[in-house]
Amino acid sequence: GPPGAGKGTQAQRLQDEMGLKQLSTGDMLRAEVKSGSELGRRAAGIMERGELVPDELIIALIEARISQPDCRHGFILDGFPRTTAQAEALDRMLSSRGLKLDHVIEMTVDEAALTARITGRFSCAKCGAGYHDTFKPPAKPGVCDACGGTEFTRRKDDNAETVTARLRAYHEQTAPLLPYYRARGVLKKVDGMAAMDAVYSQIRETLAANRT
Ligand code: AP5
Repeated sequence: GPPGAGKGTQAQRLQDEMGLKQLSTGDMLRAEVKSGSELGRRAAGIMERGELVPDELIIALIEARISQPDCRHGFILDGFPRTTAQAEALDRMLSSRGLKLDHVIEMTVDEAALTARITGRFSCAKCGAGYHDTFKPPAKPGVCDACGGTEFTRRKDDNAETVTARLRAYHEQTAPLLPYYRARGVLKKVDGMAAMDAVYSQIRETLAANRT
């Protein structure tokens, strides 16, 4: 799905309710930026411009991550792969571990809705729970539903200018993966314009119907 389609929202809920580990390359990169690591320093400017971080850095990040014990019962890749080179590297990583990709979920959202979703997004500074000014405000204004925290943050790349660049990167580099996975029979389409609970139900049905 394009930026703002709801990938993180749904992956987080699948993690909480199904015990599948959410591996978000965006979150991993933001953690690297925050820690001031060499990778974080290389990635920061690229992310702020809305461009994609080089394939070799992302592939190494995911390869190290899926080898960790918390991934042994399955994992959800959120925001990866995003280029053909990443998809091919994922194929190699999985086959060398005797694993296979069960499902690829495409989340479709009208482009006009994406900017509103992205520019209204914020999260709890303490626990990371995600919110939206209009679509998902905390039950008590200014207080995180999950942890009671009162500090919130907004992502640096969540502004209208960067969204345009992120959408361009999606169309040019990521959308070509749809036919790649459709040809393998693993691609399932979900209507990302529906309400969050309805999107979640669609994904659950998809996973249950094709469980192998
Ligand atoms: P990343 O963090 O992956 O950002 P993204 O793909 O642009 O996706 P978003 O996190 O913006 O959106 P989302 O689909 O998760 O939507 P969300 O659920 O939050 O990547 C950031 C950057 O890192 C990239 O630009 C790139 O530089 C780099 N990067 C990351 N991975 C990379 C890779 N593999 N290769 C190279 N570079 C990489 O929802 C958005 C908002 O909408 C929320 O506020 C939510 O509450 C609301 N919302 C969600 N669902 C609904 C709904 N159904 N109805 C109404 N509102 C909704």
